Amino acid sequence: MAVERTLSILKPDATRRNLTGKINAVFEEHGLRIVAQKRIQLTPATAGAFYAVHKERPFYNDLVSFMISGPVVVQVLEGENAVAKNRDVMGATDPKKAEAHTIRAKFAESIEANSVHGSDSLENAKNEIAFFFAGTEILP
Ligand code: CMP
Repeated sequence: MAVERTLSILKPDATRRNLTGKINAVFEEHGLRIVAQKRIQLTPATAGAFYAVHKERPFYNDLVSFMISGPVVVQVLEGENAVAKNRDVMGATDPKKAEAHTIRAKFAESIEANSVHGSDSLENAKNEIAFFFAGTEILP
């Protein structure tokens, strides 16, 4: 297996409930290393651009509104098979369908306020990491 990097976002429902440390502990327990991290406020333009792939979906406007409703923590996670591993650790998008040990089963409030985002492929991970981080901000 190869060492990969993936983009993670702790969403506004997680920062509002002061869950940054608890969620980060889950990543680290599963061998994912946080090699970059910053707490930022997304704007309508940045949230809209980040989720542009969902522009035609009925939930797009609500998703953008939610993502700008409070600070987020954007992160780069590094580890063996990091893209797939993070998706396992996060659980299904809809917390009602997520396995019990996952972050979304434990912490998410709804399919929209689902606490975390993680890249869904290695190619998207590269693009999503570059969206938020300069190479000099990533410190393995
Ligand atoms: P995320 O992994 O960040 O990618 C897109 C987000 O859209 C997703 O998590 C959900 O939080 C949000 N979303 C809201 N409604 C839906 C829906 N019906 N289906 C899929 N994603 C949704």
